[in-house]
Amino acid sequence: MAILHSDAFVFFGATGDLACKKIFPSLQAMIRRGHLTIPVIGVAKAGWTLDQLKARAKDSLEHHGGLDPAAFETLCAQLRYVDGDYSDPSTFDRLRKELGSAEPPAHYMAIPPVLFGLVVQQLARSGCAGEGARIIVEKPFGTDLASARKLNQILLGTFDESRIYRIDHYLGKRPVHNLQFFRFANAFPESFWNREHIESVQITMAEDFGVQGRGAFYDQTGAIRDVIQNHLFQVVANIAMEPPPRLDSESVRDEKVKVLKAIRSLDAHQVVRGQFRGYLKEPGVAEGSRVETFAALRLEIDSWRWKGVPFFLRAGKCLPVTCTEVLIRMRKPPTMYEDVQLQPNHLRLRISPDETIALGINSMAPSDDASEGLREMIASHHPGREEMDAYERVLGDAMAGDATLFSREDYVEEAWRIVDPILKAPTPVYPYEAGQWGPEAEVEALVRPPAGWWNPTIDP
Ligand code: BG6
Repeated sequence: MAILHSDAFVFFGATGDLACKKIFPSLQAMIRRGHLTIPVIGVAKAGWTLDQLKARAKDSLEHHGGLDPAAFETLCAQLRYVDGDYSDPSTFDRLRKELGSAEPPAHYMAIPPVLFGLVVQQLARSGCAGEGARIIVEKPFGTDLASARKLNQILLGTFDESRIYRIDHYLGKRPVHNLQFFRFANAFPESFWNREHIESVQITMAEDFGVQGRGAFYDQTGAIRDVIQNHLFQVVANIAMEPPPRLDSESVRDEKVKVLKAIRSLDAHQVVRGQFRGYLKEPGVAEGSRVETFAALRLEIDSWRWKGVPFFLRAGKCLPVTCTEVLIRMRKPPTMYEDVQLQPNHLRLRISPDETIALGINSMAPSDDASEGLREMIASHHPGREEMDAYERVLGDAMAGDATLFSREDYVEEAWRIVDPILKAPTPVYPYEAGQWGPEAEVEALVRPPAGWWNPTIDP
């Protein structure tokens, strides 16, 4: 069956934080590119009018990315608003009316997961979920394997898998996609992309800020659920997957699922958790909370390509920098330069704030009074203002019916299967000072890459 472009975009949670920070800026950007010509229908329970929603959209654009008066005017002309309780059938009858003759609308759930079931039921009852209608679901997709399965059952009761788009906005980031492109559009990486040549892989997602007023959400979530099980696993999958036979969404997603299937479920001794000092004073955080704001872990991929190559992942809030980076360390060469301090070669792939591909090479000192050492050959690129934001890309793809950048049911369940045991294990949560690389001593003692962690630095 031909895939149709959605002919209406409905977003639940229209007055919420995500709409303000991400959805309105993405919609305006799509309009600027001429990519959004369909009606946009916001739904929320706020007792608002359409004019109030437009004012909110204006305010949100002024604070997040900048207002483009012409594009904003077009957005306002396309914008509709349905106000009402999600448990009230009349809210959805009014939505049905607003949709008019729209056949394959895209419904975006920018709402807490506890409401998904209710909204899906109401969409089905009111005739808003007919053949072709899509549902776009925001992360977190469940809180563990059992809840993710339950959520999948709820969605699959109304939408078949091909109509469910589970967002992981990391997949919409160009540099994340470029990990695959770099590997499969060039001939040379394949020659060393395996256990013969690679000693270890480390992935760091560091943020130099705390929970930014999201204490209540974060305290139910923690670093493993918030970014490791989803964002960082997607990075692992892009690095570790086999070349797909074709570039269609299923062929690509099949390869990613195979990576996760080859990862053994984690054990408590493979993880170190930390919590920055001061977290307990954040609004919304429970007294004595043991939720981790930092986690470092080691995983193993039991495949022909990767067996014996440890993958180290760490992510945290209040770390020294904001940066996401992959470091692939090579095995040592059988060198005759025994009296020189050589370091293992590496390939450094930075995802943000800039996109960098850097090759760490031992080279002769540039002059007699300098010493030999590791120098990098760098290709780097700073994203420009016009570059497509991750949310714009994933929302556009969902409307176009391209599922490549979305997590499939089997992928999400495998990802939860891997972390499930450590979510439930009562492992210690070590305190760390803001501005440190987590609880450094414990990480060094328990989850240390063979030649140590590579701490990303940002040029001032
Ligand atoms: C979100 C997490 O999914 O990703 C946040 O909930 C995190 O805690 C954010 O800060 C990071 O995304 P980005 O695109 O800002 O790097």
